[in-house]
Amino acid sequence: MPLVTSKKMFEDAYKGGYAIGAFNVNNMEIIQGITEAAMEEKSPLILQVSAGARKYAKHGYLMKLIEAAIEDTGLEICVHLDHGEDFEICKSCIDGGFTSVMIDGSKHSFKDNIELTKRVVDYAHSKGVVVEGELGRLAGIEDAVNVSAEDASYTRPEEVEEFVTKTGVDSLAIAIGTSHGAYKFKPGQKPQLRFDILDEVSKRLPGFPIVLHGASSVIPEFVDIINANGGKMPDAIGIPEEMLRQAARSAVCKINIDSDLRLAMTASIRKHFNEHPEHFDPRQYLSPARTAIKGLVQHKLREVLGSSGKSAL
Ligand code: G3H
Ligand code: 13P
Ligand code: ZN
Repeated sequence: MPLVTSKKMFEDAYKGGYAIGAFNVNNMEIIQGITEAAMEEKSPLILQVSAGARKYAKHGYLMKLIEAAIEDTGLEICVHLDHGEDFEICKSCIDGGFTSVMIDGSKHSFKDNIELTKRVVDYAHSKGVVVEGELGRLAGIEDAVNVSAEDASYTRPEEVEEFVTKTGVDSLAIAIGTSHGAYKFKPGQKPQLRFDILDEVSKRLPGFPIVLHGASSVIPEFVDIINANGGKMPDAIGIPEEMLRQAARSAVCKINIDSDLRLAMTASIRKHFNEHPEHFDPRQYLSPARTAIKGLVQHKLREVLGSSGKSAL
């Protein structure tokens, strides 16, 4: 089975009323946990790599690990650059074998975003690679993505047709109130998403795949385990699963999840060390951490995204 683009995955997801999970990967245990889950669930899958992940693990290592996972599981996998900030990183990922890239021009003016995105699309399409663009800005902090709440802005539906037509992008990430990281809503705040914006965007772009970033639910069970085992995380509130199910049934074809993986892994490792303070072989704590990732991803695929049983396997 080769690496594939997300084109057919999105067509099927749009028609079928489900979404493809795009999970961020940084190392072998994360890749193995995710791909074992997708294999057992017979689910289509996108593995995405941020600039920070490329710096941490190096492009070549991640590609080889993903190739090994394809060989091991027989899955069709799309490998995607998450939040590419300029033409150069997109080109480098395309030349290095990725089948999909995101050019995140959301910090630029509408005009400059169109110009930059079109440049990436022209290059990517000439190599058979698909492109995700972004309109609107999500708040939140992660390694290479850092946007304050004041700088965040919802997508303006009246801009989407012009953006898609002029750039030729294959999918569009929109901002409807999700945000990156583990702290999406303040304690006591009721999570709310602007489904009215999503509806208006999908009316204006019939059949076109929409992407939702910042979609971790920040599962309370993991935060509790972390804090019960020496961690110090403040109250964290994420996107309720029911809202993600609603999004997955609509034009949203790709849902990005990273923070929940981080929490699952960290909760498992903290608990392990608390229960086995004598352990020092990394395999002793990374093995249950990998199993925790697998369990979490199976839950997402089956109970939230609805993509279980949808792969060609
Ligand atoms: O949206 C960003 C992703 O969660 C990746 O985060 O830049 O810390 O690797 P990162
Ligand atoms: P979370 O931080 O909510 O997991 O979002 C990840 C993401 O959007 C990656 O692009
Ligand atoms: Zn993102």
